[in-house]
Amino acid sequence: MQNQQTKKLTLAAMMTAILIILGVFPGIPLGFIPVPIILQNMGVLLTTELLGAKYGTFSVSLFLALALSGLPVLSGGRGGFAVFLGPTGGYLIAWLFVPAILGTLLYLLKRHNRLSWWLELMTVMIAGVLLIDIIGSVWLSIQSHMSLTTALLSNVAFLPGDMIKATLSVILARRLRKMPALQDIF
Ligand code: BTN
Repeated sequence: MQNQQTKKLTLAAMMTAILIILGVFPGIPLGFIPVPIILQNMGVLLTTELLGAKYGTFSVSLFLALALSGLPVLSGGRGGFAVFLGPTGGYLIAWLFVPAILGTLLYLLKRHNRLSWWLELMTVMIAGVLLIDIIGSVWLSIQSHMSLTTALLSNVAFLPGDMIKATLSVILARRLRKMPALQDIF
């Protein structure tokens, strides 16, 4: 039990480090909205899949706390309170809730032996990707004074990339979960 907890905490810290590393890749600007294409949302999905609700929330919160405190851990070396109030603040806040919502859904499906590859991907797409994009769009529309419809429609541009990221995170998580060292974690 103690050993399992230590493993989970270690993995949570490792996932926070991976989130930071993914931020080294600069965002790709889209031009028509002040929100870039980034890789860190894939890290949030993977963290949730590997760690579930509780430890996933711990890992993502730690990452966001570092960002909030001003460390340059967000894509392109950004950080600080102002970023949370900027156009991308809604996405960052959404990341905080993904482990609790997606992690709980994945846990329930797994407990009922219903976690096929396809269902896992659909769950990650809906309770991960879409959740982030919708919360992000709501804040973007308020912050940037654009209509919610425009904000939501602009976010469609993220979907192809986000689908690839979701697919990669499911493939990776399913492989990693089979590793003996990680089997009793999720
Ligand atoms: C930040 O670094 O300030 C947060 C950027 C959020 C970008 C969002 S996450 C969901 C969507 N997919 C992307 O690739 N970019 C946006």
